[in-house]
Amino acid sequence: MLFFFLLTFSSSRCTTLEESVIAPTFEITHQWSYINFTWESSITYEEAIDSGDYIPENVAMTGIKFYRNRWYIALPKFRPGVPVTLAYFFADEAPINPLLTPYPDWDSNTDPTCEGIKAVQSMEIDRSGVMWVLDGFRVTPATACPTKLIWYDLNTHRRIRSYTFPETIGLRRGGFLNDIVVDDTGYAYITDNSAIDPGLIVFSVRENRAWKFRDASMFPQIEAANFVVDDWPFRALAPIDGIALTPRGSNPRVLLYCSLTGFSVFGISTEVLKREDLLSTGDWRAYVTYLGDKQAQGDGMAMDNFGNLYYGLLPLYAVGKWDVFGGTPPEILYQNRSTVIWPDSFAFDNQGYTYVLANTINKFGDINFRLVLNDEIKFRIFRFFTGSQSYLF
Ligand SMILES: *[C@@H]1O[C@H](CO)[C@@H](O)[C@H](O)[C@H]1NC(C)=O
Ligand SMILES: *[C@@H]1O[C@H](CO)[C@@H](O)[C@H](O)[C@H]1NC(C)=O
Repeated sequence: MLFFFLLTFSSSRCTTLEESVIAPTFEITHQWSYINFTWESSITYEEAIDSGDYIPENVAMTGIKFYRNRWYIALPKFRPGVPVTLAYFFADEAPINPLLTPYPDWDSNTDPTCEGIKAVQSMEIDRSGVMWVLDGFRVTPATACPTKLIWYDLNTHRRIRSYTFPETIGLRRGGFLNDIVVDDTGYAYITDNSAIDPGLIVFSVRENRAWKFRDASMFPQIEAANFVVDDWPFRALAPIDGIALTPRGSNPRVLLYCSLTGFSVFGISTEVLKREDLLSTGDWRAYVTYLGDKQAQGDGMAMDNFGNLYYGLLPLYAVGKWDVFGGTPPEILYQNRSTVIWPDSFAFDNQGYTYVLANTINKFGDINFRLVLNDEIKFRIFRFFTGSQSYLF
C-alpha cells in the first residue's frame, strides 16, 4: 500500500519570494474591544439589549477567513447574549471596532429550528469560493441541535447544502467541532475537541458520510497541563484541536494535528484517513507519525502552499513557524506579551499575507472570569508577509 510518509511538492518554491532571514513585521489590521453588529433598526437593537439576546461584552470571535475583500468571522456561543454566530465585515472598514453583519443574514442566524446556524467555531473557504461552515460548538447550553456542516457559495451568497453529523460522531451536547481543513478530492478533516469523545472526523462529499478516528495521540498531554495566559490559568485538559493539511501538490497529503494541552504534532496520510474500512481494525494507528514538538501549547494552526506550518504559542504570546518536512527546527516569528494574547485562527489572502487572530478566548471560556465592557482590546487581527498562499493552492 502506498502509505509512505514521503512528501514531494509539485509546486516548487516560489521564485518571487525573497526568503529573508529577517522575521516579518507583524501589524494589526483590525481590533475590537467588543463586538457589535449592523442592526436592522434601533428597535431590534434595543429589544436585543433589553431581552439579553445581545450582551456586548459576551460576544467572542474565533475563526477568521478571508475571501474577496471580506472577512468572514465565527462567533461561537461561550456565553449568553451572542445573537449571531456567523458574520462578515469588509477588509477596508475602520481598524477599530468595525461592526459585523450577520452572514448570510439575520434570519439564518436567529432561525429557532435546527436548520438555522447555531454555534460556529470555524470554517474554511475552498478554491472555488465555497465556505464550509462548521456548526459544531456544543459545549454550552446555547443549543441542543445536532452538529452540522453548512456550505455557502460566497460568489452567489447561496446556501448550497448541509450535512448533519450522527450522534455517534458529533455530540449535540458536549461535541466541539473545532477546526476544519478541506482537500480538493472531496474530503474534509475536522478536529473534535470534545472532552467526552475527542477525535478526528473525516467527511466524504461523494458518500455524504462521515467517520471518526480516535487515538491516544489525540488526548491531552499531562506534562503540558496548567499554563497561564495573561495572568489567567488554563487548567482544562484540552484534546485534539489544531489541524493543518499539507499543500495541494504533496503526495500523499498529510493531515497534521495537535492537542491544545500538548506540545506534540502528529501526522497521518490522508490516504489512510479516506479509508473508513481501516477503522474496523486498529491497523491504521501504525500510520500515525509523531512529527515533533512545538515550543509550547497552542490552539489553531495552518499550513501554507510551501509546507510551512504557522501556529500560536499560548503561554509565550507568540506565533511560530515550522517547515515540518524541510528539516529545519521550529522558530518563533513574533512575540509580544501585550498583544499576542491567545493566538488562535489563521487565514491567508491572495496578496502573500498570512493573518492570525489573537482573541483572549481563555477568558470567555472560563465562567469564573468576569467580562466587562471597556476600552481594553480583546481581539486583534495581525498580518505578516509570507509571500505564500494557503495549503489549498
Ligand atoms: C451597536 O451598533 C448600533 C448600530 O448598528 C448602534 O446604534 C449602537 O449604539 C451600538 N451599541 C454599542 C454598545 O456600541
Ligand atoms: C508590542 O506591542 C505594543 C503595542 O502595539 C508595542 O508598543 C510594542 O512595541 C510591541 N513590542 C514588541 C517587542 O514588538
